[in-house]
Amino acid sequence: MTNTNAPGERPWLKTDLSVEDRVGLLLDQMTLAEKVGQTHQSANIDPEADADLIERGGIGSSLYASGATGGNERDGGVLSDAINAAQRHAVEGSRLGIPLLFARDVIHGHRTVYPIPLAMAATWDEELALACARMAANEAVVDGVAWTFAPMLDISEDPRWGRVAESLGESPVLAGRLGAAMVKGFQGEDPSAATSLGACAKHFVGYGLAAGGRDYDTVSVGQNTLRNLHLRPFKSVVDAGVMSVMAAFIDIDGVPMHAHRHLLREVLKDEWGFKGVVVGDWGGVGQLVDQGVATDLRDAASQAIHAGLDMDMCSGAYAAHLEELVQSGEVGMGMVDDAVRRILRMKLSLGLFERPYVEAPTAAFIPAPTPASRELARDAAASSLVLLSNNGILPLAADPGRLLLTGPFLDEGDALLGTWVLDGRGEDVASPGAAFRARLGDQLMVDDGRFSDVGISMVRHADVTVALVGEHRSRSGEDRCISTLDLPAGQLDVLREIAGLGKPLVVVVFSGRPLDLGPVLELADAVLLAWHPGTESGPAIADALFGDVAPRGRLPMTFPRSVGHLPWSSHQRPAGRPIPAASDPVHGRYLDALTQPVLPFGFGLSYTTFEYSPLTLSSTEMAPDGTIEVSVMVTNTGSRAGREIVQLYLRDLVSDVTRPLQELADWALLDLEPGASAVARFPVTPAQLGYYDRTMTYRIDPGDAEVMVGPDVSHGQVARIAVTT
Ligand code: BGC
Repeated sequence: MTNTNAPGERPWLKTDLSVEDRVGLLLDQMTLAEKVGQTHQSANIDPEADADLIERGGIGSSLYASGATGGNERDGGVLSDAINAAQRHAVEGSRLGIPLLFARDVIHGHRTVYPIPLAMAATWDEELALACARMAANEAVVDGVAWTFAPMLDISEDPRWGRVAESLGESPVLAGRLGAAMVKGFQGEDPSAATSLGACAKHFVGYGLAAGGRDYDTVSVGQNTLRNLHLRPFKSVVDAGVMSVMAAFIDIDGVPMHAHRHLLREVLKDEWGFKGVVVGDWGGVGQLVDQGVATDLRDAASQAIHAGLDMDMCSGAYAAHLEELVQSGEVGMGMVDDAVRRILRMKLSLGLFERPYVEAPTAAFIPAPTPASRELARDAAASSLVLLSNNGILPLAADPGRLLLTGPFLDEGDALLGTWVLDGRGEDVASPGAAFRARLGDQLMVDDGRFSDVGISMVRHADVTVALVGEHRSRSGEDRCISTLDLPAGQLDVLREIAGLGKPLVVVVFSGRPLDLGPVLELADAVLLAWHPGTESGPAIADALFGDVAPRGRLPMTFPRSVGHLPWSSHQRPAGRPIPAASDPVHGRYLDALTQPVLPFGFGLSYTTFEYSPLTLSSTEMAPDGTIEVSVMVTNTGSRAGREIVQLYLRDLVSDVTRPLQELADWALLDLEPGASAVARFPVTPAQLGYYDRTMTYRIDPGDAEVMVGPDVSHGQVARIAVTT
């Protein structure tokens, strides 16, 4: 370890130079082998075994995750000592001293775990999403993490796909805005600050369309749907300054994303002007061979770098073949330089050259959950709960009589953290059992949690039963797809028996996806959807059931009637023969079932009622560069405080290609005390009606459009507006 860090000898260390100048100075010094090294990311680097590789500049980044489907596998945690030791080889032992970039999936929290992303989407709350990402970054940097692979922005319309749990739902606008908030939270105001992480938008693009909801499967989608739907949230976060984008495992109409030159290079980099790093997914470059489009790893490396993929995650194809591909003239040096420039730009922007090592924890950086992080986790969990039905049984009285808490999640902690938790710990979780015991003491009856006959018989002795059912965290996430949307085996049978006893029944459902909850809604007096709420699961649920906090989440995905109804989403486009209204069951699309979903996008109840005034429009005509204001006054007409999420949907009435019958365009969170009113104001611009036409040209049509304002996609007041020429 003989090299020096003196800026005199290493001019790229001079912080008064611009990042671009520093990148240029460094790039000029690099050999081809060193450049290729930067494009190579390996997993779980070992400071001893990999010392030589690091010191010859053969590696640019290391990913700490337990395996290729790390979202459901636990590991020993990040070892900051090992990170520092590996970094020392890079900074002090390599010729140019370029620091390594350490990555880890910090998806919905680090040590403190917030609700799964789909649940965060149910909050519709950008400030909250930003705050949780910020707190996660604060915790993760202490462990030496510099780069996270979040937010996940795959438009999710198929609940069979286990990864919907990681997503921000089915709306491009909701996902795009919440994703941008998360990017700001992770990267902070100043990405070079000690508390900032680099963010990564994934999985570019169309992964949510994997055939049959089967993870990693193929995708057939037209360019128009890609442009008008799937690419949009990615564009939002690119505009928000996300530092990296990850390619998806899938192919699009036969072209694997890791070799998709049009989408990676021409759209993302050239058209959108993205200056960050395009990273492959785990082994994705090598999988071009498995996908049958590359003869071998060398061919795979060539195709991927031509397509614009800058960093190869864990396949080793770039490390093994890129140098020779350049020497043979098959890959131009300019292409490698472009990839390396992006990687160095990210490292410099993150301040890695100034702060390559993990700093000792200080009072500001406490890895275990703190009172402040727990408070945030409780608020986030409370905001994500969606009340699906309630015949008046909720909120429970502070003294509810004898309350039986039952079901497989009674004393669970870890199971409620959700998928993609590498560092959160089950023992940090306040379980539902603990939270109810703290509230009710002796009045609480609990069964053994096995949901057995004995437990069922206890229902007879209880005044009210709260059943905790649904999915264990390991039933969703990567490679965790299901072929029916039923509750896990046996749970509905037990619920039927409990309900058959005729006593008051509240059901709390944990899940990482929309399930077929039709039968549960019929059986229960109230159903609360809790998703996987994270570290503060128990207290948040107790707060909601006892009415300390009114449930305030709204569904970010449609809940279809059954698996046979898939696909269905809130942005259905008009067919030549429209689907008959839900009120017309006779003429539905299916002979054997109603067509419409059980629960529409945007749906969620409160403990109070809201009344909407008639819609007001500042004008019915909008100039091409103009804005009109659509507003509505909302009054809390009930006796409890509550939040209404007022939603604005738009429809272009005549367009060059079919456009959604309704598309979420904006929303407002109104927290109202009993009797209070507030006005939701939505500035509407023609750009919100813009789309790509038959020639893939972006356009805004003059002519008529519809606005709808209401509490969910299936209800609202409609008004006509027009874009003038
Ligand atoms: C997943 C990515 C993840 C990566 C690294 C892959 O299997 O698809 O979402 O970021 O692993 O852990």
